[in-house]
Order: sequence, then structure tokens, then C-alpha cells
Amino acid sequence: MKATARAFTNIALIKYWGKRNESLFLPMNSSLSITLDKFYTTTSVQFCECLTKDVVFLNHSLMDEKETRKITSFLDRLREISGKRVNAIVNTMNKVPISAGLASSASGFAALAAAAAKAMNLNLDKKGLSQLARQGSGSACRSIYGGYVEWQRGEMEDGTDSYASPIMDGQDWNLSILSVILSSEPKKVSSRDGMKRTVESSPFYSNWVAEAEKDLQTAKNAISKRDFEMLGKVVEANALKMHATTLGADPPFMYWQGTTYHVMQKVQELRQSGIQAYFTIDAGPNVKILCQPEDEQYIRKEMLDLPFVQDVHLCHPGPGVTYLSNSKY
Ligand code: DP6
Repeated sequence: MKATARAFTNIALIKYWGKRNESLFLPMNSSLSITLDKFYTTTSVQFCECLTKDVVFLNHSLMDEKETRKITSFLDRLREISGKRVNAIVNTMNKVPISAGLASSASGFAALAAAAAKAMNLNLDKKGLSQLARQGSGSACRSIYGGYVEWQRGEMEDGTDSYASPIMDGQDWNLSILSVILSSEPKKVSSRDGMKRTVESSPFYSNWVAEAEKDLQTAKNAISKRDFEMLGKVVEANALKMHATTLGADPPFMYWQGTTYHVMQKVQELRQSGIQAYFTIDAGPNVKILCQPEDEQYIRKEMLDLPFVQDVHLCHPGPGVTYLSNSKY
């Protein structure tokens, strides 16, 4: 009853922002992402009758109680499905440095879902794994697949039609994503709390849902045509719309810092000078830039030249979840 899996982080081009069911992690809108090739989580899960509770290690240290509770309630879902009341020892290695400005919950729950399902002998296909990973962290359902991935919100109240599926292989269109690091401090409002507050109180939220669905169609159209300008424009506009909803929340909040705005302006200046670059921003101050491989080094240097930029990580489309032999872990 042991298995080991590895999953990579993803960056949303069309954002998931808001849940219609919090316990099942059912989103208000569909979303679209690229799974990245740089940052990943490797997790090994072993179920054993000998354990009286779940024991979780993160990077070789015992995880704190609050974080362990999240893993335990996720494993409870598996125990429910399998009918086996057995605890687990979980070993997680995160190769997603906090300073990478990318969420580790996506790769974390994708790897955990895959490893735990196999260790439980659940025989889930990728669709099943995606549904399971979603219930740990919404964005994790997209990290089951590599390349360009869509998460359909679904209509059913039990969540059976809310899962991710691949729309194009990363090798079919190699784009570059630069993660521009401005701050590595923990954010004040988590994405989970931020989206909840926005759904509950922002008067702009209902418009977000309608806009996100339109933006998703435009992005899918751009991807199928490999139209970079069309994709970049809708990606940037979608991120701005998501962040606009937070300004209307009660109490209002924003994820940007002054330097976030400087980088956004710099990207717009680059475009005026003829370089195709577009930004997107998640629930934090760091900026991700979408560009084409021929421009990646130039843009990277322009960003590193800004005095307030701490680092720039260069990523490309990466693979979906994979199993590793337990001995490799
Ligand atoms: C802004 O997946 O971290 O990155 O489902 O509550 O765990 P939970 O939220 P999470 O939210 C990600 C929000 C986002 C946009 C996105 O990745 O689509």
C-alpha cells in the first residue's frame, strides 16, 4: 500500500476565481492553464494498519498541525471512497521554492491524489484523479495533465462533471513564462479566503463569471490557431478583471504592490517597442510574463535590470503527473 507520484505547478491563463460549493471545491467559472516544467512536488504515501493517525513530512520535517489537517481531510475522502479506515504516512518534497511565486498547492495536491489513490488501489484514471485532486485545492485538478489544460466548471451539484482535461500538448506550442519575483513574503489574504470574500461581497463578481466564460472561449480559439497576440491580450485582460473584483469586496483588498504595477507598465512599454509580452498575476504581488521563446532572454534581462526585481524564473510547458518507483523517492 505504497506509491510515489510527481506533479508540476501550473499557471492559470484564464483564472479560477470563486467557488459555488466550498466543500467539494466546485468553481463558479471554468479556467485554463499551462502546466510548467520547472517546479514540482514529489509525494510518497504509504497506508498502514499500524498507524493511529496520519503522519505528514514536508521536506523531511514533520508538518505543523494546521497543514496536516488539510492532508488528513483530503485522505478522509479516499478512505470514504475505498471504505478502508487506514492511516497513512505521507512524505512530500516540494521543489517549488516559496520564492518562485508559484502556488505549491496545485502540484502538492495533484501529487498527493495520484500517490494516495494508487497506494489505496483505487484504479482511478486521469479524469478520476483530476476530480480527486480538485478536492484538495481547485487548481490542482489541472496539474494532473501536462501542456494546455482546461478545467470545466461542470453543472452537477455532486461535482462529477467538474474536472480538467488536456486541450493541447505543450510540445505543439512552446511558449515561455517568466515568473518575476518581487516579494517572497507570505501573502496577507490567501487565494482561498480572497475568492470567498469576493464571491460573498463584491458587486463586480457576477460580471466576472460571465466575462471569464467569454475569455475562456477566446483563449481556446487563440490556442487552436496558435495566435499569440490574441492569447496574450485575453490573458492580460482576464487577470485584470479578476483583480478588479477584489477592489469591490468588503473589506476591499488588493494583491498588488507598487512594484507589481511597475512591472505591468514595463511589459506594456515592451509591447510599444514591438516586443510581444503580456502579464498575468495570481493571488499575490509577483508578475508572470507570457512571451515567445525568441524574446525570453531579452525580456528576462530587462526585468532583472529593474532594481526591485529579486529574481526571474524561466519556465515552459511541462508534463502531467507521473508515478515514480518507490525506491527512487
Ligand atoms: C488566483 O486553487 O489555490 O491562482 O481551491 O481554495 O485551494 P483553493 O484555491 P487555489 O486558487 C487558485 C487561484 C488563482 C487562479 C488559478 O490558479 O486559476
